[in-house]
Amino acid sequence: MKSEEIRKKFLDFFKEKGHKIIPSSPLIPADSTVLFTIAGMQQFNSVLAGEEDPLKKFGSRTLASCQKCFRTIDIGEVGDDTHHTFFEMLGNWSIGKGYFKEKAIEYALEFFGDILKLEKDRIWVTIFKGEKGISKDEDSIQIWQENGIPKERIKEFGMEDNFWGPVTETGPCGPCSEIYFDRGEDFGCGDKDCGPNCPNCQRFVELWNLVFMEYNKERDGRYVKLPKKNVDTGIGFERLVTILQNKESTYETDLFLPLVQKVEDLSAKVYKEDKKSFRIVVDHIRGAVFLISDGVLPDNLGRGYVLRRILRRSIKYAKVLELKDYWYVPLIKETIKIYEKIYPEVRRKETDIINVVQKEEEKFKKTLDKGLVQFEKLLKTKIKEQKSKIIGGKEVFDLYQSYGFPMELTKELAEEKGFQVDAKGFQRKF
Ligand code: GLY
Repeated sequence: MKSEEIRKKFLDFFKEKGHKIIPSSPLIPADSTVLFTIAGMQQFNSVLAGEEDPLKKFGSRTLASCQKCFRTIDIGEVGDDTHHTFFEMLGNWSIGKGYFKEKAIEYALEFFGDILKLEKDRIWVTIFKGEKGISKDEDSIQIWQENGIPKERIKEFGMEDNFWGPVTETGPCGPCSEIYFDRGEDFGCGDKDCGPNCPNCQRFVELWNLVFMEYNKERDGRYVKLPKKNVDTGIGFERLVTILQNKESTYETDLFLPLVQKVEDLSAKVYKEDKKSFRIVVDHIRGAVFLISDGVLPDNLGRGYVLRRILRRSIKYAKVLELKDYWYVPLIKETIKIYEKIYPEVRRKETDIINVVQKEEEKFKKTLDKGLVQFEKLLKTKIKEQKSKIIGGKEVFDLYQSYGFPMELTKELAEEKGFQVDAKGFQRKF
């Protein structure tokens, strides 16, 4: 099933169930204390907290969306099978007097089983086992069982795995119940206890998080009952597409493959030879398209620094792949083609996006080669002196100041050669 179709099926399903479809909010959230939008619920925060009336603000108590999200914590991991910076989240909400656990679970199973045809006997779930004075979610155990999920496929976890939110220090949050898909024994570790959250393998993939939002976390750390209960759910769209398209990696789905193929056209290498570099280039250009179309510009601080960091990292790996000049133009155009129907702003901002990336590339390309020579020199001296395997804060700062190397890029290059960087020493130079 094509990704476009999956997205549409989700929104149509919840529309039919009486939900109002709300367009994605921008990646820059209204709450300026947060760097980026990382979950579908963020634009609904005030109504979930009971501070505003959902009927007045959104015209309905039951809502659904496909939300643009951007996470920065995993930038260094991009290159493996699963991590990305930009991703989409499908979600449905019931705010205040609407439905709660029963309907949320029924809808989830109906959508996965009847609409997407995921085999029910490959579905496992997790529930909150109770912690920090919040009781075990016995209701969900019962509801899952009533809906045909046997007890042995219902696993219990604590606060770390089965309690969601708040996005910032305070705000609405609650126990959650997650749906996992069993990819089969071939993906497993063979351990008799293997199941969701297995520390040894990726056999069980988390697909849908159903949050039963009953609490507000206060400044003093207390969890206080919200005036009204809510349902808040999130599906990692790329993961769902990976399962439905039966691929091992998200980079092989129709969301990424056209981009990977474009890089192959521009390089003498093929994807299989250097998956890491291909993935970094396509993920970071895709991420940059969305950041720039939502108004972020490269900078040395905050959101702009994140954009600069991913652009410069993609430029470095474009060099590894020896991509032709202006390599980013076909990648930007292809990204726009993939997403323009659902996020028309990417087409409207096409010229801006190309201009911003071009300027950043021209700037960094000038110093990249010299910086790499300097970096190699530094490592050679350190190896010769046989003293320490740490690149000092001043040296990292010089690479940043003179050659535009973001600290994280120097760290990554250093780690590839078995060195560390003094990140704290680098921060002190500012
Ligand atoms: N708010 C639910 C989730 O992001 O998983």
